[in-house]
Amino acid sequence: MFKNQIAIITGGSSGIGKGIAERLSSLGAKVILVARTEDKLLKAVEDIRSSGGNAEYRIADATHPGDVEKIIDEVYINEKRLDIFVNNAGVFKFSDINTDFKEVEEIMENDMMAPGRILQYISQKFSGKEKIKILNTLSHATFRIMTGNIGYGSAKEALFRMTLQVELDLKEKKVKNIELYRLYPSSVATSQLLDLYKKGVVEAPTTLESVVNVAIDLLSDKTPSRDAFVGYVADKGILAAYYTINFNTTYNNPHVLNFLSEKIIDPKYTP
Ligand SMILES: NC(=O)c1ccc[n+]([C@@H]2O[C@H](COP(=O)([O-])OP(=O)(O)OC[C@H]3O[C@@H](n4cnc5c(N)ncnc54)[C@H](OP(=O)(O)O)[C@@H]3O)[C@@H](O)[C@H]2O)c1
Repeated sequence: MFKNQIAIITGGSSGIGKGIAERLSSLGAKVILVARTEDKLLKAVEDIRSSGGNAEYRIADATHPGDVEKIIDEVYINEKRLDIFVNNAGVFKFSDINTDFKEVEEIMENDMMAPGRILQYISQKFSGKEKIKILNTLSHATFRIMTGNIGYGSAKEALFRMTLQVELDLKEKKVKNIELYRLYPSSVATSQLLDLYKKGVVEAPTTLESVVNVAIDLLSDKTPSRDAFVGYVADKGILAAYYTINFNTTYNNPHVLNFLSEKIIDPKYTP
């Protein structure tokens, strides 16, 4: 499916990004992992190579304007293509009214400004060129109001909105080669979240595998829409839910994200 394709994955050294990178590479893509910490990148690349995959890494802090952009330029020059960009790097940090606002700003920087800036850069650079798929890792915090989410929830919702504004611009400019996808995972059993789950800060997590499966389904265009939630829901188990986007909201129908359908993935799963 992804044979000979080139994919860049920000935050590819752990968690969801690493899971998506591993699966893309097992399906034939060459993956380029981007993150800040070299040790973790090296380990992730070694893991992928030892399973027969083709992987490289680049060190960059996504919050530094221009750093990821340079990597995109370099990869495109060297590989002469870029098929997939997984706009995934991000960090959950609890924040409430007692949090120093500097910390809230840092969360916004990581989870909104950086991915938003990179998304706009790719949209400018690739408009009218070869097909490129951009998968944006959002969160169920995009559309749910939850404790501790002054920074993170606001950042994800603003990033969601930015992806829609970009999508609208692309439509209006008749740019058809750039395809945007949005993934809204609930809590996922990554190392960071498992700690928070044990402390009771986040809800019951779903499996990393379920999130990776839905991400790959999106990128394979196997889903009813390009907007997918994946998570654990009490009494239902792990499920994927799909949404349509309403670009024509009105005062009496202000809902941008509309539920379309759901697919139960694992009814027996208990966290
Ligand atoms: N885990 C969940 O429950 C969950 C749920 C919904 C949505 N999400 C979203 O999914 C995405 C991935 O989360 P995860 O849980 O998989 O996180 P994770 O396991 O903590 O991994 C985060 C990845 O992003 C990198 N990263 C963080 N900040 C970066 C920066 N400024 N520049 C470059 N790389 C950076 C990290 O490496 P370095 O630290 O070395 O840079 C790491 O590779 C995030 O956008 C998160 O908001 C996660």
